[in-house]
Formats: sequence, C-alpha cells, structure tokens
Amino acid sequence: MVERQQAARVRHWRDVYSAREEGALSWFEARPQVSLDLIEHYLPPGEGAAVIDVGGGTSRLVDALLERGYGPIAVLDIAGAALASAQRRLGPDADAVTWIAADITGWQPSRQWALWHDRAVFHFLTEERERAAYVAAMVAAIRPGGRAIVATFAEDGPETCSGLPVCRYTPASLFAKVDRTAPGAFRLIEGRRHVHVTPKGNRQNFQITVLQRERQ
Ligand SMILES: C[S@@+](CC[C@H](N)C(=O)[O-])C[C@H]1O[C@@H](n2cnc3c(N)ncnc32)[C@H](O)[C@@H]1O
Repeated sequence: MVERQQAARVRHWRDVYSAREEGALSWFEARPQVSLDLIEHYLPPGEGAAVIDVGGGTSRLVDALLERGYGPIAVLDIAGAALASAQRRLGPDADAVTWIAADITGWQPSRQWALWHDRAVFHFLTEERERAAYVAAMVAAIRPGGRAIVATFAEDGPETCSGLPVCRYTPASLFAKVDRTAPGAFRLIEGRRHVHVTPKGNRQNFQITVLQRERQ
C-alpha cells in the first residue's frame, strides 16, 4: 500500500517534469529571493554552512547558495529527472552538490545539516503517517541548534498544487503538527506570510515557518 502510493508519487512528478519547461511550472521563481534572504539571515555563508533543500526540484536556490559560498549542499527530490535538469543547468558546479533522489517519507539521512529548506513539499503530505516520517527525517537531519525553513500554502492559499490536494497551514498549526510528532525537538522562531506570483500571474498565499532544532 505504502509502496504503491510512493510509486504513484514518483510517476506523478516524473510526468510533471517531463511535460513542462521549468519556467511554465506554477512554483517557478527566476530568483528565490525570499528563501535566500531567510537562509542568509539564519545561516551566514561560509565554513560549515551545510544546507539541504528538500524537494528542491529544478529550483535555482542551489545555484544561488553555491555562488554565496554555502556548503556542503544537498538537494533531495523524488523526481530524478528534476535533479538531472538542475545538474545540467549547473554544469561542472553540480559536482559540488550531493543529489539525493528519494521520497522524503522513506528517507533516512546519513549526516546532519545546519539548515533544512523546504518550499512547497510538506503541504503534499496529507496523511499523518507521511508527516510523521517527514518529521522523523527532519529531526535526524538537522544538527542541534540548526534551523528548518518550511514554506507551504497558507490557510487561505490554494487547495491543490500540481493537481494534488494539499494541507494548508499557519506557522502555529505547522509547528503544532511537528511538535505533536516530535515533542520538544523544535522551537518556533519565526512565522510569516508571503504571496507568490506564478508565471501566469496568479497569486498564491504562502506561509513560511522557521523552526530551531533544540539542543537536547
Ligand atoms: C511544488 S514543487 C517545489 C519545488 C521547489 N522546492 C521550488 O520551490 O521550486 C514540489 C517538489 O517536491 C517534490 N516532491 C513532492 N513530493 C515529494 C516527496 N514525497 N519527497 C521528495 N520530494 C517530493 C516534487 O518532485 C517537486 O520537485
């Protein structure tokens, strides 16, 4: 059952990325400025500035992080085709990045990062079991004192994304979900709203939650 769901998810995202150009995807950003500003605020670039972009897809965040001297950097996504496309865009610079083709709900990290970034992935997890697996991965992957930036559709945002149903959040409701699964593992340090304008000009309300991994 779980394997069937994961296989369907892999097919869905493979089809999405093979059907459309990067710039035609509703979540496309030529420059992921809001994410970058938050990352720079919570983790200055330099030695030990390890970042993982969860569900990074073809996002240009990795390009900008490399330019600014972040590293080690990892990009995880269920769609191998999306990662391959980002690698082609980066050329030789792609070798400096760890590319992880995996479903976040079935992935176990082999190291820790100082910062976890997720833009528009957690909201696809509509079952408690999936969210618990995501939170378990987050707990294991973020070093004590590290941060997680999790952007999802806001409570008044769209009800679907890429043709799939989503769960919508406020920073408080997202934190409550995480804290119920991993009590005391994270502290809510910032919550804000953001309006994303899609390439077609539609406005999508997002919320962005910043969590800090407790030192326990
Ligand atoms: C809406 S897109 C956002 C992409 C990227 N974060 C950005 O902001 O441009 C969602 C991404 O999450 C990936 N994804 C969806 N479900 C996933 C899962 N269970 N595990 C890992 N990646 C997933 C998709 O392949 C897709 O690249």
